[in-house]
Amino acid sequence: MTRSRTAKLAETANPRQSADVLILGSGAAGLAAALHLPEHLSVLVLSKDAIRDGSTNWAQGGIAAVQANSDSFESHIDDTIRAGAGLCDEEVVAFTVQEGPGAIEHLISLGLEFDKRAHGLDLTKEGGHTYRRVLHVADSTGRAVESTLVRQVLGKPNVEVLVDRVAIDIVTSAKLGATDNRVLGAYVYNRQTTHVEVIEARFVILATGGASKVYLYTSNPDGATGDGIAMAWRAGSRIANMEFNQFHPTCLYHPEAKSFLISEAVRGEGGRLLLPDGTPFMERFDSRGELASRDIVARAIDHEIKRLGVDCVFLDISHRDDQFIETHFPTILKRCLRYGIDMRREPIPVVPAAHYTCGGVVVDTDGRTDVPGLYAVGEVACTGLHGANRLASNSLLECLVFARSAAEHIAAADRGTHETIDVPDWDESRVTDSDEQVVLNHNWHELRRFMWDYVGIVRTTRRLERAQHRLDLLKREIKDYYEHHRVTADLLELRNLVHVAELIVRCAMSRKESRGLHYTLDFPETLTVAERSLVHPEPDPLDVLRPRRARRSIAN
Ligand code: FAD
Ligand code: SIN
Repeated sequence: MTRSRTAKLAETANPRQSADVLILGSGAAGLAAALHLPEHLSVLVLSKDAIRDGSTNWAQGGIAAVQANSDSFESHIDDTIRAGAGLCDEEVVAFTVQEGPGAIEHLISLGLEFDKRAHGLDLTKEGGHTYRRVLHVADSTGRAVESTLVRQVLGKPNVEVLVDRVAIDIVTSAKLGATDNRVLGAYVYNRQTTHVEVIEARFVILATGGASKVYLYTSNPDGATGDGIAMAWRAGSRIANMEFNQFHPTCLYHPEAKSFLISEAVRGEGGRLLLPDGTPFMERFDSRGELASRDIVARAIDHEIKRLGVDCVFLDISHRDDQFIETHFPTILKRCLRYGIDMRREPIPVVPAAHYTCGGVVVDTDGRTDVPGLYAVGEVACTGLHGANRLASNSLLECLVFARSAAEHIAAADRGTHETIDVPDWDESRVTDSDEQVVLNHNWHELRRFMWDYVGIVRTTRRLERAQHRLDLLKREIKDYYEHHRVTADLLELRNLVHVAELIVRCAMSRKESRGLHYTLDFPETLTVAERSLVHPEPDPLDVLRPRRARRSIAN
């Protein structure tokens, strides 16, 4: 269905489309937003690859929400705030946690079946949670969530999904010279036709996911290149807390295994972290042991790997019985067996990897950014929920809760008249075909390597300065390339990665302390006053577009 709709657009160069609401991203955030929008609004949902290409489809552990009688909103709020190391917005935390059970009920009403036990839902535990409150579908919760949402969205008459579309930039009236700034739509690169399309929309929701691909080792799928964060920044939105990139402590370490996560639920269900000689070590770092928050566990592993000069540590759950492992972790078991590791009998080799972008586009509880008409929902956004470190399984929850509030805000704001400004066609008259793929490949690898080495789990001011220096060069080179060549998906992603890396380094340099996920040897203490790091937009006319002149008219 999606493919045939795509083919319709493929016939002409520079085709134009319009919708009331354009949603960039088909993960939990984008699809849930599409479902919550009223049917009188036409909605276009874009994915830059296949419909299920985002992180949502890979989520393992589950969704945190208060369910058990022994649990309480207060406890989930406290755990979230404690993990967030002084930087959570407490009102946002309370709002999200209290909306949690409703979001779960909605998913269940759409047909999602969470794992159950004799009396009610089977709740698992993860690091930093006081109680069992993580709803799951074995160890592939994300796949179940994504499938449920995709099925529902494809059945909605007012929603159309277009795949293989890479949004390049958000078009705003300010970029086209108007005095009142608002969103007008987006330029979108069609990977199938290799042409740039114009999509006009009164509202745009960024649901483009995170930016962990900026690091060499990551649990994320290929598309996590921070496009939405970079686009929002270029469109005039503030970006916050980008130094807080979460490193998941346990990704599978194997030369052939690319980015495979070993869920925190394995530790939640009793998995122990061991040194290569079999010695447990987490108690030396935190009294909560394996269930300390992720920043602490990842740093402890990083420390032990560097201290001993070893490649990895090990995660052992072989003391649990076979049936428990087979029913709770079938996906992980299968993947490990593919590499000759039987987690029922032996420990799994693991290393930390970049996992989640806690910072992002600054939004309020309605998902509104600084640009009127532009919203951001899900991992792309910085709502204030996660502060300096996200509590496990709070991300899918945030996607669902904020998707709803953004959709409701758009439905209520869907009034009023505006001057209509037609978005000009994409101008390719002064560019040539990309002729040096080697430049893109080289810069892509160089960027991810130095971000891992200099801006990783443990930082220093000198390392950050080194990264900044390399970024300055890369940024100039990519900008020049972008201005003179036809765009490709690789070029667009690299351009965004460079901007996101710059935002991370700038936020990290501005923080003269260690807090949550940001740890620097030069400022190991935590300051008494916690402040978020903010980067204001710096519009660059050459960064924008290559448009011909805008056509203006007045209409309702
Ligand atoms: P995504 O699901 O990442 O979707 C992003 C979408 O945006 C994609 O469709 C992509 O094509 C599209 N897109 C991106 N750029 C563009 C562009 N330029 N143009 C058009 N489209 C674009 N969280 C939990 O709460 N619980 C878990 O158990 C859990 N486990 C995880 C396990 C793994 C392996 C990973 C990687 C993450 C996990 N997380 C978990 C985090 C969570 O899955 C993500 O934060 C969440 O799914 C993000 O959802 P999203 O809708 O914001 O983005
Ligand atoms: C996991 O299953 O460990 C991932 C959970 C999360 O990222 O919230």
